[in-house]
Amino acid sequence: MQWNRRELLKAGIGVGASILLPPTLGLAESLIQRKIPSTGESLPVIGIGTARRYEAVTTEAERAPLREVLRQFKETGGRVIDTAPSYGTAETVVGDLVAELKIRESLFIATKLGVRGHDAGIEQLEQSFKRLRTPKIDLIAVHNLQDTQTQLGTLRQWKQAGRIRYIGITTSFERQHQEFEQTMRDEALDFIQVDYALDNRKAGQRILPLAADRGMGVMINLPFGRGRLFTAVQGKSLPPWAGEFDCSTWAQFFLKYIVSHPAVTCALPGTAKVEYLVDNLGAARGRLPDAAMRRRMESFIDGL
Ligand SMILES: NC(=O)c1ccc[n+]([C@@H]2O[C@H](COP(=O)([O-])OP(=O)(O)OC[C@H]3O[C@@H](n4cnc5c(N)ncnc54)[C@H](OP(=O)(O)O)[C@@H]3O)[C@@H](O)[C@H]2O)c1
Repeated sequence: MQWNRRELLKAGIGVGASILLPPTLGLAESLIQRKIPSTGESLPVIGIGTARRYEAVTTEAERAPLREVLRQFKETGGRVIDTAPSYGTAETVVGDLVAELKIRESLFIATKLGVRGHDAGIEQLEQSFKRLRTPKIDLIAVHNLQDTQTQLGTLRQWKQAGRIRYIGITTSFERQHQEFEQTMRDEALDFIQVDYALDNRKAGQRILPLAADRGMGVMINLPFGRGRLFTAVQGKSLPPWAGEFDCSTWAQFFLKYIVSHPAVTCALPGTAKVEYLVDNLGAARGRLPDAAMRRRMESFIDGL
């Protein structure tokens, strides 16, 4: 849905057309991108998660900071927004603000399907399209493996019909990892979404390598363990070697660890404040830790 400079040139929109380009295009190129294995489309490695802070938004005073987050996210070249029908007001808030800001075209909207039964699935999908106010949703994933076979069947049909661009599955529970892995082996999926964080590295053992083997894109949920990592480092200074991979805050330390895993397409930190947005997008810039540095980061966190 987003055109990069090369595609614009390929399409013949070249010299002289630069005045038509949105002013953010140059900035967009400065965020580190990863390719979605099933298509080669690129996405920035940091997105936005909408659980919790977007879930109970009823007043304009509550919407205003979220509008500013989404506006600046798009301005900075951000694309991926993750939501779900079960996140209270989140889908509605995202749909309304994106329509109001007129930024749908440049975004990659991911939501989920989380009910049992064929008809209930269809009903929930229609509701997501209405709430998100879009004729096409970029990614819909079966939420926490609920009625996976039935819902994947429907998602495949809707993808074929052109209403969904990518399909997948999600979990954030270690107890589901085995079934999750099996589903990855059995099904053709564009994406998986799984919990992975510097202090929660289990998905890194089998699920992330399997995703790479199977050609599946990977979105990471709970990248801060719902804030657990910030609590772990409270009152502590960043180690000086964090500068070796252009990291100046704890949020960037945690996110750069995640997005430096070669199988990861993007991380989805819960982001409801502009201050956090600016901080988190900083993890999509500069150098990333290499394998040796990643081990150093693990030892550091394990040693706390
Ligand atoms: N099964 C699934 O599919 C599944 C399950 C869980 C989550 N998810 C997705 O993953 C996303 C992320 O999970 P999450 O939001 O629950 O947890 P998270 O991203 O691990 O942590 C969010 C917490 O981090 C804080 N935070 C964010 N940026 C910060 C920064 N730069 N500096 C300091 N603190 C910062 C937030 O603070 P405040 O409290 O101040 O806002 C919030 O408490 C969700 O929003 C959702 O989209 C999917």
